[in-house]
Amino acid sequence: MDTHQPYIIPDITIRKNDGLAHAADYTMPQPLDRYTADDHAVWCLLYERQMALLPGRVCDEFLVGLAQIELACDRVPIFEELNVRLRAATGWQIVAVHGLIPDDVFFEHLANRRFPVTWWLRERHQIDYLQEPDIFHDLFGHVPLLMNPVFADYLQAYGRGGMKAKALGALPMLARLYWYTVEFGLLKTAEGLRIYGAGIVSSKSESIHSLESTSPNRVGFDLERIMRTRYRIDTFQQTYFVIDSFEQLFTATAPDFTTIYQSLLSQPVLGAGALTEGDCILQRGDQQGWVVTGDV
Ligand SMILES: [Fe+2]
Repeated sequence: MDTHQPYIIPDITIRKNDGLAHAADYTMPQPLDRYTADDHAVWCLLYERQMALLPGRVCDEFLVGLAQIELACDRVPIFEELNVRLRAATGWQIVAVHGLIPDDVFFEHLANRRFPVTWWLRERHQIDYLQEPDIFHDLFGHVPLLMNPVFADYLQAYGRGGMKAKALGALPMLARLYWYTVEFGLLKTAEGLRIYGAGIVSSKSESIHSLESTSPNRVGFDLERIMRTRYRIDTFQQTYFVIDSFEQLFTATAPDFTTIYQSLLSQPVLGAGALTEGDCILQRGDQQGWVVTGDV
């Protein structure tokens, strides 16, 4: 979920949630009676399509989490059932929400080990792309890694950092960190690069593009560099950042960011596809297909 955009409720979110209320913290019971036979069929299609692609491309931690949480492929999963296994593994739980929620509410949930999951599913004609996060993105993409203790701690720390960043006026910098790790991160392994970001894991085309295309840059993880880098919400990423391990991610993001924010404010922001001195370049992209305007 991208959290630094102005809070505008998309039309599809309004339509799907017609007649459904949420609590003050934006959570709601998962409305199981709203799922149609086609929703279950579309879930299965998306699930099976990704599972045909991901082994050998996604990190082992994701596949282990997916197996341990027993995410079903035969119907839209029931959050209460998943939460039994998630709570036992890492103390996290998922909570149903209408869709995108305000930054401060999102951070508060993460800081308390609650991951907001959009309850509704894209429609069949949107199978390949939907700008808004839906249950397939939020649940299939994000939740398996919450079974991993190190990643689970990272996401909670991110939530705590978000509450602080908002007070410091540093949300764009922190949003870039989320984007380039939680959503679009790659992991270096002995067998080659692997996906861990939810925005990639839940996308058929980006699962292939992120690893195999010659177009994007692939650059070693660097916290301050990422915090200066704009990104794309409408096309494939022009740069992917590669971590060595989840421990590296957790350790690098453990210090208080206050002084980092202050020093970065005086440095120029980088374009989504820019390379800069000091980058650990694993691949210099050939820029095919890049749209050079529209960085967020
Ligand atoms: Fe997301």
